[in-house]
Amino acid sequence: MKDVSIDTITQAFVDYCAKDTDPRTMFVLTKMVEHLHAFAKETKLTHKEWTRGLQFLMDAGKISDNERNEFVLISDATGLSSLVDMIGSQHEGTSSSVLGPFHILGAPDVPVGGDLKKDNDGATVVVEGKIRTPDGTPIEGAVLELWQTADNGLYSGQDKSQPEYNLRCAMKVGADGRYALTTVRPAPYKIPDDGPVGDLLRATGRDAWRPSHLHFIIVADGYRSLVTEVFPSDDIYLDRDAVFGVREDLIMEYIEQTDTSLLPRDLEVGTNVTVPYFKVDFDFVLVPE
Ligand code: BEZ
Ligand code: FE
Repeated sequence: MKDVSIDTITQAFVDYCAKDTDPRTMFVLTKMVEHLHAFAKETKLTHKEWTRGLQFLMDAGKISDNERNEFVLISDATGLSSLVDMIGSQHEGTSSSVLGPFHILGAPDVPVGGDLKKDNDGATVVVEGKIRTPDGTPIEGAVLELWQTADNGLYSGQDKSQPEYNLRCAMKVGADGRYALTTVRPAPYKIPDDGPVGDLLRATGRDAWRPSHLHFIIVADGYRSLVTEVFPSDDIYLDRDAVFGVREDLIMEYIEQTDTSLLPRDLEVGTNVTVPYFKVDFDFVLVPE
């Protein structure tokens, strides 16, 4: 029988594992256990703290269902989702960022220049830019999906008073790679904090706010799909996003404009926007697959 001690238990785990398992799985799992053991030793983890940790995971299981996944939220709020994202996207394209729980499939197709604002409250925002390669070549046929909160900080899907696909669209770009649309300025909002993630945030003196943002998914044949979001430079939560989604290259400006003659020519709403309106210019750079 193996004499397991504080000093040998980590190696005992490795020794007990079969030797003919998948090498990558074996590597990841043994590293995970090594770090868990090191964590317990370094913190001199007490039985009470260990039980609290297990209760935290059980509570996450209990509050999760088809609509809410508290485990993803734990990953988001501890920075793990963002870290994995950054490890996997070290290239010259636009940075990726968290998907979040409010994306829904089936957003309506809208042509370039289309209007998402419709009857929504809030200032009009014109968002325009190119989908291109790092050397500036437009990516014809790329599809950009956008989703965002309304003026009240809630997404359609979350807020039953909004029409089903409010402030969501899919837009296919032409040979110039250009997209353009009218929408409203989204508001900052809190991640769900009524479950174990809320306990974690409070225990560490953090708040649940995210800076306001526009979410995008961009897909094009032959290119790496991009899941990302863009944030205004003047948002008060920019430096303390609850899910660590902000990257330098994802920061944009809402430029206030009063001159409707500066509006793009192909907007569905024409020049029928209230002034002042805001203009956002943002290009997305995709890298080959
Ligand atoms: C969001 O952006 O919608 C979001 C992202 C991560 C966790 C919760 C919400
Ligand atoms: Fe979001």
